[in-house]
Amino acid sequence: MQKGYRGRLFDFKTSAEIHDLEKGFKYFEDGLLIVKDGFVENAGDFQTIFNKTAQSFEIENLGKSIIMPGFIDTHVHSVQTKAIASFGKELLDWLDNYIFPAERKYEDPEYATFHTKFFLKNLLKNGTTTALVYPSVHETSTSALFDTAMDLNMRLIAGNTWMDRNAPGYLLENCEASYKLSSQLIKKYHNRSRLKFAVTPRYAITSSPEALKLAASLFHEYDDLYLQTHISENRKEIEMVNHSYPNHRNYLDVYDDFGMLTERTFLGHGIYLEDDELKRISKTGTKIVHCPTSNLFLGSGLFDYQKPLHNNIQVTLGSDVGGGTSFSMLQTLQDAYKISAIKGSPMSPLLMFYLITLGAAKALGLENRIGNFDKGKEADFVVLDPDMNPLLKYRIEESVSPEDLLFAMMILGDDRIVKETYLMGKAVGSNQSTAGRNQI
Ligand code: GUN
Ligand code: ZN
Repeated sequence: MQKGYRGRLFDFKTSAEIHDLEKGFKYFEDGLLIVKDGFVENAGDFQTIFNKTAQSFEIENLGKSIIMPGFIDTHVHSVQTKAIASFGKELLDWLDNYIFPAERKYEDPEYATFHTKFFLKNLLKNGTTTALVYPSVHETSTSALFDTAMDLNMRLIAGNTWMDRNAPGYLLENCEASYKLSSQLIKKYHNRSRLKFAVTPRYAITSSPEALKLAASLFHEYDDLYLQTHISENRKEIEMVNHSYPNHRNYLDVYDDFGMLTERTFLGHGIYLEDDELKRISKTGTKIVHCPTSNLFLGSGLFDYQKPLHNNIQVTLGSDVGGGTSFSMLQTLQDAYKISAIKGSPMSPLLMFYLITLGAAKALGLENRIGNFDKGKEADFVVLDPDMNPLLKYRIEESVSPEDLLFAMMILGDDRIVKETYLMGKAVGSNQSTAGRNQI
């Protein structure tokens, strides 16, 4: 089955360098994306491809809409949607008062299935096609996540969250039980369909040294798992970690000591990482996930993107819902931009869109499968229609450059401009007509 999509086409070349994105992007005002059996067959200038192709397939004309690779959210909690927008002071109070009670409910399989579907539907209708996700400690929420993603044929990386101390008893689990559950889930889901497993100790506060050691050893039993956790998001959190791990030089050293820092490790937040921690992160190829809407909402602090950039650390972006206030990666970019502006070095529109597409694919080591429109890539893409937002439509009436178009979409856009989201060439999430679509 082959189908073409005609519209404004935007993506990055696989060779794109973060310091030279001007040379690394492709934009066709009148472009064509051809998808064959779920994979990219061709992408480029409409007329050039059209003249060369025997047209025995349908071409959908998307007018002035922008066709770009699906967004990649590298830090989001599938079990916190009910608690989004809860007035919770700051991180530790907010976790205790809203998040842990919300996560508890996922113990019930029916609740877990229903609310996980709602979660994934929200990712898709916001244009997110790949996500690195924290469910709860429960088997129910983790299986619901993998099963639903598999039904949708969505790329998803996740693993049951480990917590064996400093949380309400109803969420605590000894680390042998977490290990056993993770091992079972790895066997059942890892590399099945488009799924991958991430060993997920929540963070140092809720992990005993034994738990971190065991989590790291599970991670190293395989060579293609991911590992995700939180770090240096909040000053009180850091104080608590220093207190409970007094023999470690700093927060990062706790994770380092247990062998958790690798190219496949994703550390959420990292606002207060110091120079020697950044150097170590760089040396080990560990990734940092910046979660701007969450950092502003919880008053956690202002991430300085220049520091990891100067240390050659790959940074990705996360919505961090429910600490984050939107599933939209456009809104996430908007807040990242504002924070970078306050910090004195505004991020460029090209950089921002790179971070949620090809840059994240590279960080995940998935750039040969997703992230742009090279032939043979999985056809995960999003169609953005700026006309869906009258102010945005008005703003870009006379705009010409792709950078200006991207920038305005990121500042003014959200899920309302997502005309459709495609997973391997199949329409799965739209804010417009849903008739005949594979909606949850
Ligand atoms: N640190 C540990 N758990 C969490 C969480 O659920 N959300 C955020 N934002 N930070 C955390
Ligand atoms: Zn988080």
